[in-house]
Formats: sequence, structure tokens, C-alpha cells
Amino acid sequence: MISFRDWMSERVREYYRSDFRRDFFTAPELDRVFGYSLAYHIGELLKDYEEPYLLELGGGSGALAYDILTYLREREPGLYKRLRYYIYDFSPELVELQRKRLSVFEGKVFWRDRLFHMRGLIFSNEFFDCLPVHVVRGGKELFLESGKEVWRELSNPSIEEFLKRMGYGGLNQVVEVCLDCVDLLKGVAENLKEGYHLVVDYGYTSKDITKFPQGTVVGYRSHRVYNKPSEGMDITAHVNFSLLEEYGKDFGLLSLYIKNLRDFLLSTPLFTEELQRLTLSEAPEDIERLSRLKTLLLSMGETFKVLLQKRL
Ligand SMILES: C[S@@+](CC[C@H](N)C(=O)[O-])C[C@H]1O[C@@H](n2cnc3c(N)ncnc32)[C@H](O)[C@@H]1O
Repeated sequence: MISFRDWMSERVREYYRSDFRRDFFTAPELDRVFGYSLAYHIGELLKDYEEPYLLELGGGSGALAYDILTYLREREPGLYKRLRYYIYDFSPELVELQRKRLSVFEGKVFWRDRLFHMRGLIFSNEFFDCLPVHVVRGGKELFLESGKEVWRELSNPSIEEFLKRMGYGGLNQVVEVCLDCVDLLKGVAENLKEGYHLVVDYGYTSKDITKFPQGTVVGYRSHRVYNKPSEGMDITAHVNFSLLEEYGKDFGLLSLYIKNLRDFLLSTPLFTEELQRLTLSEAPEDIERLSRLKTLLLSMGETFKVLLQKRL
């Protein structure tokens, strides 16, 4: 018998360690304007830092790092010169891919297998959704026994505390409890001596939790979504952004804003200028890019959120 949380943790590790298949695509792989938009905000946040560090959690194929560094090298050469870019990722296979892709930024990019003391920005795109969750319903927790679902006593007293603190105690539905998200957030706060924490991911806040009566855990395989995840799939859960805000306060992380990706992109001059330029262009490549920007704004724009926290 194994808790769903432990099972998910094992599956996610296996998934990113094995012959990593492309069962999903992420925003930076869709279009460079996503990374450039983040880079624009990074430039604004870190312009007064003498030697800022950027730490990306979960670097994937290295696409996001590539776009951010390309933008900063071209548009913010002063900042580019002063900064160091770090990636924290548990997949040796992906780190290898990142090293190859980012070799053009010689001497700028470094890898670490744990968080470390730094000043600057810790950020991630589609990282927190990989962290395993305890699945709870009616005071019981989901376990698996020979592949069958079994509901048992809660495995950890912190789950009960979480439900109380978040006001979820009376909910008559599946609730996912990401204690790993709390631990990670604590690690971010303890290591960030000065600066910001930025999270981009698909997720919800407490006011929307009842929209997911069966929870949000899904598995992806070959671009298809499965409500009952099984081995060999990329298993994820929507991120509870209210958790990140609430527990962030305990650790000295003050939320500056939380908005959906659409509003974040539309508040980025670089994005709106690009959108306007592509709308007026008749070049086939631009027409294709325009449709990708629309995907970012419309489908991803609604489900994805952006949270910015400042270290107090
Ligand atoms: C869905 S990919 C996102 C990649 C990239 N940020 C992007 O936007 O394309 C998740 C990444 O996080 C890494 N990852 C997932 N869980 C992790 C963990 N617990 N510790 C370290 N890295 C993890 C994976 O290896 C992978 O590189």
C-alpha cells in the first residue's frame, strides 16, 4: 500500500529520468514571446541589482532560459553582463539537454542540485504542478493497493492543519494538499536573501476550488489527457496559488500580485507591440506566430496564473 502522494512522486521522477517523451508542450516552446515577456519583467525587477542571480526551478528543454538570456543580452546588455543564471533540475537527461542548448551563453549558465543563498530572482514555469499532492476526501486520504484506490486515515498531521488553515474543512469534494509545495516555498524563502519569487503555472485560488469537485490530478501521454493517471504518464496537479500566498506569509514572502497569464502578457509592452506588429503583417511566418500568441492569450491565458512575491 502506498499513498497517492508517494506514488505520484515516484512516477514524476521516473518520467523525467526515463526516455523523456514530448507528451506536452510548454509556453516557452510555443513562442519566444513568452520568455521575452518574462525577461522584460526581470529587467524591471533587477535593474538596480549589482550582481543578481537568476535561479530557474525545473529548466525543461532549456527553451525558457534560452529566450530570457537572448532577450537580456540584446536589450539589457548592462544587466546581462552583471547576472548569473542558475538552473535547478532533478533530471540528468534534461540537464544534459539544457547544457547543449545553452552552450552559446558561455560562462553565464550554471547548474545546482539544491537551492543556495542568493540575491535576485527565483522563478519557475510549470514546475510546482510536478510536485506530488496528498489527495483527500471527507477526512480520508487516497492510497493505492495493487493499483486499486483505498481511502485511509490521513498520513500526516500537517494535512489536517492545512485544511483548517485554508478553510477547506467543510468542503464536500476532493481536495489536493501539496505539502511539498510548502516545503519548496520555505526553501525558496530561506535561500533568497533579497529579491523576488515568481511562479507561472496552471492553477486556481481558494475561491475557485469548488470548480474542481474531483480534484485536478491528471496524466498526460502523447498529448492526451487522462483523468486516471497511470505509469509512464506525466502526472500533474493544478497549483493552489492561495497556498503559495498564505504559507508564503509565514516565510517572509509578500505577494505583490497574482494575475492570470493573459493579464500579465497584456501588461507587458513588448508583448502588445509584437501582437500589433503580427496582426498587421501578411507574412506566412507572422500569421503562424499570431495564432501561437492567441493560444498563449486565450487558452493558456485563462488557466495559467502568475504570482510575484517579494522577500521581506
Ligand atoms: C514541465 S517541465 C517545465 C520546463 C520548463 N520550465 C518550461 O517551461 O518549458 C518540468 C521541469 O521541472 C523538473 N522537475 C520536476 N519536478 C522536480 C523536482 N521535484 N525537483 C527538481 N526538478 C524538477 C523536470 O525535470 C522538468 O525539467
